[in-house]
Amino acid sequence: MKKRTSRKSPGSKRLQNAEQLWPLRFTLNGRKVQARVKPTQTLLDFVRLELELTGTKGACLEGECGSCYVLVDGRPMNSCLVLAPQVQDRKVLTIEGVSRGDKPDVIQQKFIECGAVQCGYCTPGLIMAAEALLARNPRPTREEFLAGLEGNICRCTGYNTILRALQEAADAMGMKR
Ligand code: FES
Ligand code: FES
Repeated sequence: MKKRTSRKSPGSKRLQNAEQLWPLRFTLNGRKVQARVKPTQTLLDFVRLELELTGTKGACLEGECGSCYVLVDGRPMNSCLVLAPQVQDRKVLTIEGVSRGDKPDVIQQKFIECGAVQCGYCTPGLIMAAEALLARNPRPTREEFLAGLEGNICRCTGYNTILRALQEAADAMGMKR
């Protein structure tokens, strides 16, 4: 009787490698994080599912809506398109890192005061985009606000209350300086 040899398909080694865990190390909201992650896991899934930071939302999962924005080294990025290993040794800020304990920051407070939140699904992403915009340009014009938010979609508010909230936040932050 012929001895059966086990033959692995050429793809099986690649598959095995893909399932190896990546030793991830980065800074999240000011704290060092170390974890072993699947190389194919998105940053969005990592923060929501593994770290249980569910403030960052996933909607389109295609880089179109901005609801999943986090800041990576101060720049807004769609966490649904970023793989967790891509933030190795970088600084990531999520919406949970924006408030001071239970206290909302100025932008969050103005969103509340101006009624710029309806279903709220877009709100964390909008706030992250606004944080980045106001950090590099403390006095944006209306056009600069619109350009800064062009990666964010809100299906509820019509944007006017959002723009008012951001303008008031910029004014309030200017007064503090
Ligand atoms: S969920 Fe990432 S851009 Fe829409
Ligand atoms: S408040 Fe509902 S999508 Fe913006």
